[in-house]
Amino acid sequence: SRKLGNGRQSPTSPLKLFGLAKKRINDIFVDISKYMHETNTFLVEIAQEEGIVEQAQGEQTAKYIEKVRGIQEMLGRDRMKVAFYGRTSNGKSTVINAMLRSKILPTGIGHTTNCFLQVEGTDSEEAYILTEDQPQPLSVQSISGLAHALSTVRLKPDSTIHICWPKNKCSLLKDDVIFLDSPGIDLSPDMDSWIDRHCLDADVFVLVANAESTLMQTEKNFFHKVSTKLSKPNIFILNNRWDASAAEPEMQEEVKQQHLERSVAFLADELKVVDRFEAESHVFFVSARETLVTRVHQETGTPTPSGALLEGFQGRVFEFCNFERKFEECISQSVYLQECISQSAVQTKFEQHTANGKLITSDVRMIMESVFEASAKRKKCCQQENHEAQDKLDYTAKQLNLLSAEIKDKIKQMTEEVERKVSNAFTEEIRRLAILVDEFDR
Ligand code: GTP
Ligand code: MG
Repeated sequence: SRKLGNGRQSPTSPLKLFGLAKKRINDIFVDISKYMHETNTFLVEIAQEEGIVEQAQGEQTAKYIEKVRGIQEMLGRDRMKVAFYGRTSNGKSTVINAMLRSKILPTGIGHTTNCFLQVEGTDSEEAYILTEDQPQPLSVQSISGLAHALSTVRLKPDSTIHICWPKNKCSLLKDDVIFLDSPGIDLSPDMDSWIDRHCLDADVFVLVANAESTLMQTEKNFFHKVSTKLSKPNIFILNNRWDASAAEPEMQEEVKQQHLERSVAFLADELKVVDRFEAESHVFFVSARETLVTRVHQETGTPTPSGALLEGFQGRVFEFCNFERKFEECISQSVYLQECISQSAVQTKFEQHTANGKLITSDVRMIMESVFEASAKRKKCCQQENHEAQDKLDYTAKQLNLLSAEIKDKIKQMTEEVERKVSNAFTEEIRRLAILVDEFDR
């Protein structure tokens, strides 16, 4: 369903898979985050009850909330980064422009690109640039405005300028791909710091070579260093300026074979990043200039001036589209096709987040299970305590009954005693009175 002719992507384009995979994983983390917050609120509520939630469990869920937030932030920033390297004037900036179908980056003979230029998509309608020293966005009205804006900022070769280009003007940027243009490798005073600062997070590398000469030792050394720091980087070799071959048609095939052999030997035998068979599919013969001219005119619907294209340009434009297709496949390879041998960039990117997500959810599940067990134990304990209290109450009631019977007896005895004493006293008094009456009578 892909239209190879103009390089646009169909909805099933492999590059779209990156966007889809990213959206899916984002949605999952939104759910995880909601669940973590609910868990935390619940644990805080029942923390007052003694013996159910341990302090460490509450702390752990709070930590996980932070971790999930961190992953969500990383996912928000996650994009596919494609870095372009090569000697000065090989056409790196022109290749990126051709892929973006627009003359965005400044190009020209001599040394043009002075620092790292990162082209990334923005949802805003207007383009703007961001520099490392100046956090305020610098607005760019037009492409010539961009060249002007770039010339007004202070440039250090090691610094990066972010060119935020409206996504609605370029379909590749919609799919969260970012392009990193670099100054010529032959000019870099400190390759190591370049690699550390700009290459370690790149997903795909494109070596833009000059088909008019041959692969140079500086270019090779650079990639040797990259591959010591990254395991099996994804590298493409574009033999650019292949339109030059139109001037020497009789030598064309021979020169092509020579370049192909050298490029394959470099990728497969020297760097050992791919086997020789796979290496051949990573080498292309293109003319970025012709592709860009054709596309810019396609976009504006104007005819391409005849002098801009050389004999056989269709083949070279077609080869450029092949490169883009292979490049897209490389980015999203095996998201759905698990049998692919090499790990895809998408998988590598999301694998760590997926593993972390699984770890967090299973850990929180364990916490909740142990809270549930603790509360079940507590319930049992309370029931038992209730029984014991009831028994005690019954005993006390019985005791009270017994006690009251005893008291009644005692009161009865005392009353009887009093009655007895009173009647005795009466009898005694009557007897004494009778004696007195007797004596009186006498
Ligand atoms: P620096 O930024 O200076 O390192 O150079 P670069 O590698 O970015 O090269 P750039 O894209 O600026 O191209 C240098 C010159 O080569 C420009 O004048 C381009 O128009 C021209 N150019 C780029 N690609 C091709 C090509 O395929 N064929 C021909 N004939 N010229 C090209
Ligand atoms: Mg350049």
